[in-house]
Amino acid sequence: MSGPLRRIAVLTSGGDAPGMNAAVRSVTRTALSGGITVVAVERGFEGLLEGRFRELAVGDVGGILDRGGTFLGTSRSERFETEIGIAEAVEVLHNKQVDGLVIVGGDGSFRGAEALHAAGMCVAGVPGTIDNDVAGTDTSIGFDTALNTICDAVGKVRDTASSHERTFVIEVMGRSCGILATYAGLACGADCILVPEVEWCIEDVWEQMLSGVRRGKKHSIIVLAEGAGHAFGVAQDLSELSGHNVRTVVLGHVQRGGAPSAFDRILASRMGAEAVHSLMAGRSGIAVGLRGNQVETYPLAEAYEGQHALRREIYDLASVMAQ
Ligand code: F6P
Repeated sequence: MSGPLRRIAVLTSGGDAPGMNAAVRSVTRTALSGGITVVAVERGFEGLLEGRFRELAVGDVGGILDRGGTFLGTSRSERFETEIGIAEAVEVLHNKQVDGLVIVGGDGSFRGAEALHAAGMCVAGVPGTIDNDVAGTDTSIGFDTALNTICDAVGKVRDTASSHERTFVIEVMGRSCGILATYAGLACGADCILVPEVEWCIEDVWEQMLSGVRRGKKHSIIVLAEGAGHAFGVAQDLSELSGHNVRTVVLGHVQRGGAPSAFDRILASRMGAEAVHSLMAGRSGIAVGLRGNQVETYPLAEAYEGQHALRREIYDLASVMAQ
């Protein structure tokens, strides 16, 4: 970009996450307070290609801080992954006189963001995904809220599991990443956590449950990451092996909705502001991350080339707590 930033666009992309609205609000108000015009792009990258832009004023992002989902809409765009799509997007952005872009999304969106940066656009990525699978940041916007949603649901399941002396396999999201399941399992006191990063077999699951059974526990909660297997298959195998009555709950998209937690609102506000400040300082091709409670920036490529690694000590701690 040559010259000062005058007009930035903001879009949300990929799976929605609670707190995305807070991030858009922060981007908008930070930019406006710096004398920069802000345009919203509706329906993510697909909307960008369709030219679905509208200018935002301070009041347009009022009343959305505590709202789940994304008021801009979002899309999973295959065109975002193609050279033609990127070239078309750059042309649209130039036509709309946009000289900076903030993308709120997960690692797939960051890959597209990097391609736009390589094509000459000034781009910053803000991590918004309940999966918390973006590398380089301790956490992403939406993860904390999803964890709280899971805790609430597991607490309710435990009530009925205990009444009926049943075992439940509760499947949570996370795509190929087991961080959401691990933190949820620790926070909910699960008897067993199954994630793609740690090898497991049904005999081990039964063995872990047995320690509870031996001390008279009548119900068990198994938290299963969607990337580690399917709840119905696990329940069937466990039922055959143990002779226990095993039920399943697939929490599904409930985990993506709801009002963002205070933590996610604050995180989104901090990250959105940092994205704008970085663009104003002339930095592009950067991701915003939280590292040890500091909001920092780092190269986009670092964010999507690897996956946020599961912290084994957290998983091990959950196993000790479950004994
Ligand atoms: O990336 C967020 C996520 O909720 C994943 O956990 C899940 O695998 C996926 O999106 C579901 O995507 P969709 O809403 O497109 O079915």
